[in-house]
Amino acid sequence: MLIKYRQKFIILMMESIHFREARISDAAALIAYLKIVMGETNFMRLYPEEVKFSVEEEENFIKTMNEQENSTLQLGLDGEKIVSVAGIHGQQFMKFRHCGEFGISVLKQYWGKGIGKSMTIRLIDWSQQNDILKKIILHVNAENLVAIHLYQSLGFKQEGLLKNDFYYEDRFVDTYIFGMQV
Ligand SMILES: CC(C)(COP(=O)(O)OP(=O)(O)OC[C@H]1O[C@@H](n2cnc3c(N)ncnc32)[C@H](O)[C@@H]1OP(=O)(O)O)[C@@H](O)C(=O)NCCC(=O)NCCS
Repeated sequence: MLIKYRQKFIILMMESIHFREARISDAAALIAYLKIVMGETNFMRLYPEEVKFSVEEEENFIKTMNEQENSTLQLGLDGEKIVSVAGIHGQQFMKFRHCGEFGISVLKQYWGKGIGKSMTIRLIDWSQQNDILKKIILHVNAENLVAIHLYQSLGFKQEGLLKNDFYYEDRFVDTYIFGMQV
């Protein structure tokens, strides 16, 4: 019964979420979003106070992501509110242009409602349509079991391990590198 209600809630929630490419005019809202998500989990790489980009810097970043043929920055929105950001940053040197790095976050209030999965599928699809990309990789905290489950369920395989990559709360945590041919 509970599962039925949860599924119904997820469907209703997903109906109100839409996805689109980031625009330069999203810069200020994106900075505000990043300051929140960086404080919601240790699995993100920065602390909120390390989000120091100016609106102009963020505008330039969005412009670059939109202009680079092998990069994209995508938003999940609930109405006007940014609730998820995901991107693929394609490498620019000729020998590595076929490789892009994937990254994703979802606002904590929206976790577990299928948004991360929808965004990841959307970006895998995007990379498969892209003429340059042949491979996507990602870095994930070894204790981030939900993210690891998500990536493995969509076909990413572990390719590497960075020992003691994270340090927080007086301890080290490893990072896994996952990859997928697209
Ligand atoms: C990791 C993250 C992107 C996942 O997004 P999400 O919207 O919460 O995940 P979804 O609801 O799409 O669920 C994805 C899968 O994880 C499962 N899942 C979600 N929350 C879960 C939980 N708390 N416990 C167990 N499984 C869970 C879902 O059932 C689904 O699996 P399925 O397809 O086999 O059913 C999101 O939680 C997040 O942004 N976390 C903080 C930032 C972060 O860790 N980013 C990734 C850095 S590498």
